[in-house]
Amino acid sequence: MSWFSGLEAIVRTDVPLRDHTWYRLGGPARWFCQPRDERELARLLARLRDAGIAWRVLGGGANVIIRDEGFSGAVIRLASGAFEAIRFEPEGVVVAGAGADLPRLVRATLDHGLVGLEALAGIPGTVGGAVRMNAGGRYGEIGRFVRLVRVMERDGTLVDRSASEVGFAYRHSQLAGCVILAATLSLRPGDAEAARRRHRAIWMEKYGSQPALAARTSGCVFKNPPGAAAGRLLDQAGLKGTRIGGAEISRRHANFIEAHDDATAADVLHLITLAKERVRAATGIELEPEVEIW
Ligand code: EPU
Repeated sequence: MSWFSGLEAIVRTDVPLRDHTWYRLGGPARWFCQPRDERELARLLARLRDAGIAWRVLGGGANVIIRDEGFSGAVIRLASGAFEAIRFEPEGVVVAGAGADLPRLVRATLDHGLVGLEALAGIPGTVGGAVRMNAGGRYGEIGRFVRLVRVMERDGTLVDRSASEVGFAYRHSQLAGCVILAATLSLRPGDAEAARRRHRAIWMEKYGSQPALAARTSGCVFKNPPGAAAGRLLDQAGLKGTRIGGAEISRRHANFIEAHDDATAADVLHLITLAKERVRAATGIELEPEVEIW
C-alpha cells in the first residue's frame, strides 16, 4: 500500500515542475499534491509525516529555481477554490487565500476602493508566496499591510500568527516549516483612481527597466545588500550579457537571469555562482540569492 492510498485524487507522481514555474526549468517532483481543502491538507501532512517524506509548498513558481534533477519529496500546491478566495470585510480588511493570484488581489482591492496594494504592481505569484518572502519592491512590501497570517503547522494544527510574530523583514518572514493558508490585510479606503494611476505608473516603470514579461526569469536573482543595489554591482562588474549555456544575465537589468530555449537549471545556477564570484572579487560584497533554489 502506498503512503497516499485514499488520497489518489490529489497526489500524482513524477510531475514536471517546469510546468509550474515561470522559469520553465528543472526536473520533476516525486509527488505533487493538490489538496482541495484544509481537512485534506491536514490528512496529507499527517501521511507525509508518518512516511517521513520531506515536503515543500510551491506558490506561483515566480521566484524559485528547480534543479534539473527535480525534488525527491512531495510538493504541495494550494490551487483549489477553497484556497484562492478573496473576502472583503468592513473597514478595509481583506482576507486572501494563500493560493490567490497576487495581481488579482491587487486589482480586486482597487476595484473595492481600497488603496495601498498598488505599490505591489507588477509582482507575480500567489498571496502565500508573497507573504512567505515578504515580496515587494521600491514602493513597498506586502508585510506592511498584513495583520494576521493563518497557517497550518506540520502537525495539522491551525494557528493565527500576528504580523509581529511573523517577523517581516526585507524579503524575509519567519514562516518556514508551516503551510500558509490565508493572510488578513488591512487597507484604507481612498482615491481609487489615483491609486490606479500609481499602479499603472509603477508597472510601466518596472517593465521599462526589467526584462520583457515574456522573458523566462525568476525576478531578481540577488537581494540588495545593505546600502547598495545588486543590479548596479552586477552591472559594474561587467556582467550584462554574460552567458553560460542557455542562461544569460539580462542586458536590461543585471539582477535578472534569462533562460533561453536551450537553458538548463544548471546553466542558471552556474551563472549565479559566476556572478557572485565576480562581484565578490570586484567589491568584497557577498551577494545573497533572493530566489529559492530547490
Ligand atoms: N542598476 C544598474 N544596472 C542594472 C540594474 C540596476 O546600474 O543593470 C541600478 C539602477 O539604475 C538603480 C539601482 O541599480 O540606480 C537599483 O535598480 P532598480 O531601481 O532597478 O531597483 P532594484 O533594487 O534592482 C528592486 C527590487 C525589484 C523591484 C524593483 C522596483 C530587490 C532585490 N529588487 O530592484 O524586485 O522590481 O526594486 O521596485 O529588492 C524581485 O524582488 O524579484 C524584484 C525584481
